[in-house]
Amino acid sequence: MAYMQWSEALSIGIEELDREHERLVDLLNEAYAVIERGASTEAGLSLLDGMAAYAATHFATEERLMEAFEHPGREVHRRQHEFFLIKVRTKRAALSADAGAPWREDLFRFLSDWLAAHILGEDRLLGDYLRGRGMR
Ligand SMILES: [Fe+2]
Ligand SMILES: [Fe+2]
Repeated sequence: MAYMQWSEALSIGIEELDREHERLVDLLNEAYAVIERGASTEAGLSLLDGMAAYAATHFATEERLMEAFEHPGREVHRRQHEFFLIKVRTKRAALSADAGAPWREDLFRFLSDWLAAHILGEDRLLGDYLRGRGMR
């Protein structure tokens, strides 16, 4: 079962960004599925790294668009991306230090909650702004 469900409600109306968001949700679900099957901590870590790397690439796409179209909310938005990457790094460090900790639920709850809140918040504002500039 998927940990996080993608739905049209998460669409921000910009095709490229929607595609990347869907991919992020897929990566989260793949990581969860592997860990559910009883994967090692190492496998969990490498999946977490893969997701964080893809998130960084996706954030760069959005930040490039925000600069190009001079989105007025780009500083606040950029700081949220930065916060997410720092937080994932911190959680990864905690996981390496204590593989026995009940980290899974905490980690996946954080990832899915943050992703949904960010997409429905700053990303949606960005989508509206870009659509107002004729982008689809
Ligand atoms: Fe974003
Ligand atoms: Fe995004």
